Amino acid sequence: MTKQYRITLLPGDGIGPEIMAVAVNVLEAVGQQFGLTFELTEALIGGAAIDATGGPLPDETLATCKASDAVLLAAIGGYKWDSLPNDIRPERGLLGLRAGLELFANLRPAQILPQLIDASSLKREVVDGVDIMVVRELTGGIYFGQPKGIFATESGEKRGVNTMVYSESEIDRIGRVAFETAQKRNKRLCSVDKANVLEVSQLWRDRMIQLSADYPDVELTHMYVDNAAMQLVRNPKQFDTIVTGNLFGDILSDAAAMLTGSIGMLPSASLGASGPGVFEPVHGSAPDIAGQDKANPLAQVLSAAMMLRYGLNEPEASDRIEQAVLKVLDQGYRTGDIWSEGCTAVGCKAMGDALLKALAA
Ligand code: IPM
Ligand code: MG
Repeated sequence: MTKQYRITLLPGDGIGPEIMAVAVNVLEAVGQQFGLTFELTEALIGGAAIDATGGPLPDETLATCKASDAVLLAAIGGYKWDSLPNDIRPERGLLGLRAGLELFANLRPAQILPQLIDASSLKREVVDGVDIMVVRELTGGIYFGQPKGIFATESGEKRGVNTMVYSESEIDRIGRVAFETAQKRNKRLCSVDKANVLEVSQLWRDRMIQLSADYPDVELTHMYVDNAAMQLVRNPKQFDTIVTGNLFGDILSDAAAMLTGSIGMLPSASLGASGPGVFEPVHGSAPDIAGQDKANPLAQVLSAAMMLRYGLNEPEASDRIEQAVLKVLDQGYRTGDIWSEGCTAVGCKAMGDALLKALAA
């Protein structure tokens, strides 16, 4: 019996289409092995959508995503659209997708692979064994809070305004995802805030403490965000699961990603209470190397694996992809971002071919 899944593909901009092509080949190969058929529908987002339709998230794209079982996204943005006004920039498309699908929970794992330890800019002994999950709130906080905008004051001077706001229910729902995530890991949860300065963070901290009563097996600690940034590069192994708001999570997840050597390796999952999730690499669209067959497709491929695990509940197929990624690294294949002495330098396509061989073996 074959199972059928409807997947929306959003290749987006820059290196997006190249890395998506690799992930699709991998998905189809694994699908054949596990009796899964993927009905793939491609839709426009970001700069590609702006060029074709004038806006970064056409209604049709959101409708297609809503009607699917999961969404696989590559990357959006590029120099070409950098000077557009804020409300029609490519980034708006991504934020609109997150809001439109109510994807309030963003899981960003940062795990160092032994094969890539020397690609990290930090010392081996600092990063060896790092395995962190950042749980970032994704549809609230200062990214979406009202009021927001650039307003003229009476004196004629302009004021830019954003508002960092969290309600109890928003904190509780991300908190519960984080506690449950920690339960499946090493049962340590560090909540990151700025409660020494911000009221919104005080409420955040109070709610996390309240919630912890329901998860007695999880050890809850708190850290201010500035200290967390420092601790991530000083002693990252102290962290297991981190939960934090939208803006702090944006920043800390990039720092956590870089511990592993390359942001080109890291996938993410964005999940709502129900409905399709969005699975995408943590990295951006890398316009400087787009179209040159230099991109590392592994974060995209690992995002497809996360999609199978968290979005479609197909853990065996997910495991199979992750094993193939480890295998090609063991075989010494490296794209430029993770290359080190003695390894075989490959481009995006050749990395894809190596993955297909590893899957077939
Ligand atoms: C991310 C990105 C986005 C964000 C941008 C592209 C809107 O940096 O997914 O981390 O800030 O959330
Ligand atoms: Mg970011």
